[in-house]
Amino acid sequence: MSKVDVVIGCFYGDEGKGKVIDYLSADADIAVRATGGDNAGHTIKVDGVKYAMHLVPSGLLSGHTIGVIGNGVVLNPAVLLEEIANLKSHGYDVETYLKISEKAQVILPYHRLLDAALEKARTYKIGTTGRGIGPAYCDKYERCGLRMEDLYDPDFKEKLQALVESRKALIAFYDPENTSVEADLDFDTVYQNYSSYAEQLKPYICDTVTLIHRALEQDQKIVVEGAQATLLDIDFGSYPYVTSSNPTIGGILSGSGISAGDIGDVYGVIKAYSSRVGKGPYVTELTDETGDRIRELGHEYGTTTGRPRRCGWLDLVTLKYAKRVNGLTALSVNHLDTVGKLDTIRVCVAYEVNGERTEDFTTNLRFLNNAKPVYKDFEGNFGDISGCTTFEELPKKAQEYIRFIEKYIGIPVKFIGTGAEREAMIIR
Ligand code: GDP
Ligand code: IMO
Ligand code: MG
Repeated sequence: MSKVDVVIGCFYGDEGKGKVIDYLSADADIAVRATGGDNAGHTIKVDGVKYAMHLVPSGLLSGHTIGVIGNGVVLNPAVLLEEIANLKSHGYDVETYLKISEKAQVILPYHRLLDAALEKARTYKIGTTGRGIGPAYCDKYERCGLRMEDLYDPDFKEKLQALVESRKALIAFYDPENTSVEADLDFDTVYQNYSSYAEQLKPYICDTVTLIHRALEQDQKIVVEGAQATLLDIDFGSYPYVTSSNPTIGGILSGSGISAGDIGDVYGVIKAYSSRVGKGPYVTELTDETGDRIRELGHEYGTTTGRPRRCGWLDLVTLKYAKRVNGLTALSVNHLDTVGKLDTIRVCVAYEVNGERTEDFTTNLRFLNNAKPVYKDFEGNFGDISGCTTFEELPKKAQEYIRFIEKYIGIPVKFIGTGAEREAMIIR
């Protein structure tokens, strides 16, 4: 039986997971998305065309890899259909290569409205993507959410109506100023739209657990594409400034039906600096002009919401935590080209909290808000590294930077990103 390789974000998302999964999918039979929804945005540049993948697994871009949307995903059919149409317009045979779990949860129009209303009512804003992710997972765990298979049930209309009607009052409760709820959730329109989505998506729906296990038994290669990241995890992230799913290794298993024993390599993806979009603690954040410079050099604007990302230095204390929680076996360091344009590169090697030095991370907000980063400095100005195809071709100071990360974390850096293009990656 073959083993499943997993790609996981180590910080606050947008580490370049899409690019790594795209590389791994070149010789994969199946690429799986297991968690989250269209809050994810994975950018991949293929032959000059930029794809922003929100729900369709990035691996499908290989042209020969089946993309599976697993049971752990919360799926907005309207967004998915748009993404399918875009891929088809670029020549992708989506009908053959996309599979959707019958157990994936359906995002309904009220989820987005409720997301906005809850955010408005919060004293401490989370800065959600506004895609209805939190409310959709609430319905799942409250056990009233609709799964994809429910769209084809004889009692679908009744279930939908009960949900939509009951949520109107909830939205009005959290956001009494919203006077368009009745119109936005006009039941006939919602029902017609979702009946149409159901019809269009029917060919893709199947039992993805059996599909995955049959493939493993036939020794096929499977990769799982993590969405979001370790510090956005509902259990292991900086709660409450997190998303509503488990993007860490446990969520990969429960969101796909893959067992722990099936897991092979677990690749942790980081940037050679760091970024965060949305609110919450961020120990190595730079609020000065260096932060602005990194944002411009790295084009750090959200793939999903277009928001400017907060930027800062690489934090190895956090990375060690991500390694522990996920059982990382190797790393991918993206944007070495970006950080190499700076004169000095700083890396956080410890925190000082209330006068005490520590290298152990915890997500306690008081701890994080009091933590001061202890930095080690590296020489930057790597020059143009975009043409480097081997580690040895990199300037010595760039090699030194990568080796330091490896030594600190204790696992190899297997992939190094030298640019946004598909080919701009050193494989070791
Ligand atoms: P994901 O959500 O983890 O897949 O990451 P995003 O796609 O949201 O953000 C990563 C951004 O960095 C995208 O714009 C990528 O095109 C870009 N990118 C990824 N790797 C590299 C790299 O090594 N160098 C540069 N310059 N850009 C990169
Ligand atoms: P990818 O897969 C970066 C953040 C939001 C917000 C918090 C909660 O592209 O790395 P949500 O809408 O999930 O309820 O928002 O999580 N967030 C992300 N930040 N990349 C992502 O995905 C994210 N998905 C959610 O900005 O702070
Ligand atoms: Mg992203």
